[in-house]
Amino acid sequence: MGIGTSPLPRPSGGHGTLRGSGGGDPHRPRAILLRPGADLDGFRTAVRSLVAQDVPPESVTWSVTDSPGLFGADAEQAPGTPLVLPKPVAALIPQVIPHRDPERYGLLYALVWRVCQGERHLMEVGSDPLVHRLHRMAKAIGRDLHKMHAFLRFRRAEDRGGERYVAWFEPDHHILEAAAPFFVARFRGMRWSILTPEGSAHWDTETLAFGPPGDRAQLPEGDGFEAGWQTYYESTFNPARTNLKAMRAEMPKKYWRNMPETAAIPALVRAAAGRTEAMIEREPTMPTRREPARAVAAMADQDPKTLDELNAIIRRTEPLVPGATQAVLGEGPVGATVAFVGEQPGDQEDRQGRPFVGPAGQLLSRAMAEAGIDRGASYLTNAVKHFKFEERGKRRIHQKPTAGEVSHYRWWLDRELEFVGPKLVVALGATAVLALTGKAIPITRARGPFRFDRHDNRFQGFITVHPSYLLRLPDEAKADAYAAFVEDLRRVEDLRRELAA
Ligand code: URA
Repeated sequence: MGIGTSPLPRPSGGHGTLRGSGGGDPHRPRAILLRPGADLDGFRTAVRSLVAQDVPPESVTWSVTDSPGLFGADAEQAPGTPLVLPKPVAALIPQVIPHRDPERYGLLYALVWRVCQGERHLMEVGSDPLVHRLHRMAKAIGRDLHKMHAFLRFRRAEDRGGERYVAWFEPDHHILEAAAPFFVARFRGMRWSILTPEGSAHWDTETLAFGPPGDRAQLPEGDGFEAGWQTYYESTFNPARTNLKAMRAEMPKKYWRNMPETAAIPALVRAAAGRTEAMIEREPTMPTRREPARAVAAMADQDPKTLDELNAIIRRTEPLVPGATQAVLGEGPVGATVAFVGEQPGDQEDRQGRPFVGPAGQLLSRAMAEAGIDRGASYLTNAVKHFKFEERGKRRIHQKPTAGEVSHYRWWLDRELEFVGPKLVVALGATAVLALTGKAIPITRARGPFRFDRHDNRFQGFITVHPSYLLRLPDEAKADAYAAFVEDLRRVEDLRRELAA
């Protein structure tokens, strides 16, 4: 709500109140204390009070403190008075408040004061030095917000609540609170934290909270999620369009160090000239599929003609992460109408060389049976074909594949599904969704029927949870979650019948 669009409440003691003894003389000096950062509420409170007492801008000093002890007993209380500002003024105030310039509050109050003194159309006078300066400040905030939205990169971490994505960013201005709603809308189903030198924002899929400053050292190590960005960037980098000046203007170097994909820029630029020539020569035979560079490099000269030939290649291939006993291949008839895609083989699957035979697989079998799905007539496979684990004593603890690993194995999954030719593909969990779509889509948002549309490969899909998610739930939540999973599988069976008809 704009500063002047609502009746003014009586200001209470706290940030934004006036310090000094006694009211009366509007020309007596006033000191306003506001919170560090963008204290829009404090500013509003103070402005209502100042205007109500007719205090001109030259009598006011604005400063910032984070010590709440400075407020209270001697704060003046001004009566609430309606203050209605023209819309452009009310809109400009929140756009300027995040600016780093310590004069911003004084400048804005000068604007409000002049408007209240009768210059109602001041904002239309673009040549007025005050209006001009405030417009420039608002523009700077707009640019800073754009950079944060475009260049912030999350890294995956684990905490007690499970998966959390963490990013470090150093904005030029105090824009964290203004920028956060964009990330809520974009990554609603993910738990994430954004750390900045001035404060942090935390989203738990329901509530947005702000906390103390972060530290770059709190950022988790670079991971495959980042490798995914980098691989994607390398594979989409078009050397023929390299224009360093434009690149720097759009993506200032200052942001590069937080962006995994930019690690590739210097080398890509150096190679650009040569790659352009090579591209021109190759153009007529360029594949229409765009695959992550690493996978392409490894698979470029493989051209399996059948599922058996493909499987033979997988068997011969070393796991990306050493340790697995063997590759666990898909299982089920070629021509099955429905295929289920999981994450990666677990301990039991790795030992037996078959997918979904361990605890999660047994749960899946039971739920399929309850939903009327014939497991033997279905095709079951995984996004990643090797077991990745960490040894703890005698136990081998499953480790989630990174996005980079998932993209490496996508070459196989794509071909496997082409050979099997299911009419319906069920993604079990987020890794399968990532493998099938190339996108990190939260299950909570996408659960249900889904149209997979990759390259020239389009098929009807269905997204549901991974059975191991059900195993990890606390006992009291298990029954309901299992019932919902079976219900999903019933819908899958209905769809399968429809598509098979
Ligand atoms: N989890 C999976 O995703 N796949 C398996 O094969 C077993 C457990």
